[in-house]
Amino acid sequence: MKVLEQHILDRGQVLGENILKVDSFLTHQVDTQLMKAMAQVFKDVFQEAGITKVVTIEASGIAPALYTAEVLGVPMIFAKKSKNITMTEGILTAEVYSFTKQVTSTVSIASKFLSSDDKVLIIDDFLANGQAAKGLIDIIEQAGAKVEGVGIVIEKSFQDGRKLLEAKGIRVVSLARLGQFVDGKVQFLEADA
Ligand code: G4P
Repeated sequence: MKVLEQHILDRGQVLGENILKVDSFLTHQVDTQLMKAMAQVFKDVFQEAGITKVVTIEASGIAPALYTAEVLGVPMIFAKKSKNITMTEGILTAEVYSFTKQVTSTVSIASKFLSSDDKVLIIDDFLANGQAAKGLIDIIEQAGAKVEGVGIVIEKSFQDGRKLLEAKGIRVVSLARLGQFVDGKVQFLEADA
């Protein structure tokens, strides 16, 4: 998605060898016009799939997921990273290991929000090693629901996330795909949409 690539070039900052800081439009401050445009692209790609729920994981997945759910006219559910005191029963959980942070966390969704009739689109801000998406797929499958695809804002294609998801037969649609950073500069691979 050319508009997104332009935002990354204009407003993103490369940190070290493999981190892209995009806090001015995606992970902290949120550019609502960009969110709307991205949501429309996800809608165009997935509109034939009969999506009934959009699922993401807190925190930075929420903005793109919410805009996408809105244009698809379906609810958005975000997996929680810490157990809330009101989540007392019927919780589906998965362990998510973060290579970046080197910690394992338990993510959860209340089982009442997913059923075997659901066709789910997972949306997330970054795809790196794919562990967050893998955990969400695990939870969605525990509910007997079907994962119709994974929509990603920024894929770090030099990490293994896409490979992991595609090996599970999951369709991955990334709006920007980053190759290895060279001299502190972002290189783009051809995006999916
Ligand atoms: P994975 O889920 O694909 O395996 O990712 P990984 O463990 O490597 O990443 C852990 C967290 O770091 C995730 O957010 C992910 O979105 C984020 N992340 C990974 N690479 C980058 C990057 O280059 N830039 C930025 N800005 N974030 C990156 P999280 O811990 O779930 O954070 P949040 O959504 O609560 O903010």
